[in-house]
Parts: sequence; structure tokens; C-alpha cells
Amino acid sequence: MEQHTQYALLAISGSLRKASFNTLLAKYLKHIAPKNLSINTMTLHNLPLYNADEDVSSSPESVKFLRDSISNCDGLILVSPEYNYGPPGVLKNAIDWASRPAFNSVLKSKPVLIITASAGPAGGTRANAQLRDTLAGTLSRVVVRKQVAIGTVNQKLEGNRVNDPDTTELLKDSLNDLVLEIKIARLFSREN
Ligand SMILES: Cc1cc2nc3c(=O)[nH]c(=O)nc-3n(C[C@H](O)[C@H](O)[C@H](O)COP(=O)(O)O)c2cc1C
Repeated sequence: MEQHTQYALLAISGSLRKASFNTLLAKYLKHIAPKNLSINTMTLHNLPLYNADEDVSSSPESVKFLRDSISNCDGLILVSPEYNYGPPGVLKNAIDWASRPAFNSVLKSKPVLIITASAGPAGGTRANAQLRDTLAGTLSRVVVRKQVAIGTVNQKLEGNRVNDPDTTELLKDSLNDLVLEIKIARLFSREN
């Protein structure tokens, strides 16, 4: 019975690049997800830089859209490159917008899976760790698991697909872990 529960996931890419490997990976998740998962993907092209002066009830439409999309999903997936040993500014900026009001935002208690991918061999492990640290400030429930950091991603994509079975398995496993975190979060919210 439980396995038929539907979950709505939102995958946000940390790259604005047209041919982004991370955006491709975010979209690829839909193809490998079990039938009970729906996955919307989002890029951050229209989001302005965070400005507390604009963070008022009439905040920019793109900010409202970001917050509503996160609020309406059961679980969030960040799929990001590493820029200079950290996450790209566009993704940090989106987390900053989504994180307000502080400790009571749409990110509070939200299950989040972090995926990083890079053409480099380490797959963005430092950005991955820094994202976890940043999300701690939002009280979201970052999935506890071995890092999903995909190195030499440029060699693992063919067209719109991942051609490396180990990477596909890793992504499937990580989706399962996100669903588990959603279930735990629901249990926890019923008990408290
Ligand atoms: C400004 C900049 C800094 C980068 N720094 C790193 C880095 O620290 N570590 C790394 O693995 N790759 C680094 N890269 C390479 C990117 O991770 C790589 O280009 C990746 O494919 C970009 O992601 P995308 O294909 O989703 O756009 C950097 C790229 C740029 C443009």
C-alpha cells in the first residue's frame, strides 16, 4: 500500500549554462524515478540577487514562484556544479531567498537531497559539503547518506541520458533515500 504513495519532487539546477550537465542530470532523474515520483525541474535564470529591501510581502514574482514551488513539493533536490570549491552564487542566492523568514521558511523541515556533478574527478565534493552546511541554517532535513558527487560527468552523459550504470544506480539509490527521509519527516511531524 505504502509503495503507491505519490511524492512530488522539485529538482533545482545550480547552473544557468544552456548545455549544463547538472541541468541534464536534473531532467534525467525523471526517466529513472519510480512511477510514484513526479519530478519537476527548475533553473534559476530569473531570480534577482537577494535584497532584504525587496523581501517584503510584494516580493518579486520569481521569488514567490521559487518559494511556492518549494513549499508545494514533498522533497527538494539540488543538482549543482562546483565553482571555486563551493556552490555557484546563483544557487546560494536561491537558498537565501527561500530561507526567509528565518527558521520558519519553506525550507524548514523540507527533505533535501544534494547532488553535485563536475567535469573534474571529485564531482564537486566541496560544493556538496558546503551546501549541507548552508542548509543547516535553514532547518531543512538534508538526506544523510554518502555524498552524491559525480566526477567526470562529461564522460557519463550521452545525449540526454547517463551512459554509466554505476551513476544511474547511485542516482536511483539517492532518490530512494530522499523518499525515506520524506517518510521519516512525516512520521516525525505526526508525533510532534
Ligand atoms: C567559475 C568556475 C569555477 C569552477 N570551479 C570548479 C571547482 O572548484 N571544482 C570543479 O570540480 N569544477 C569547477 N569548475 C568546472 C565546473 O564544475 C564544470 O564546468 C561543470 O561542468 C559546470 O557545470 P554545468 O555543466 O552544470 O554548467 C568551475 C567552472 C567555472 C565556470
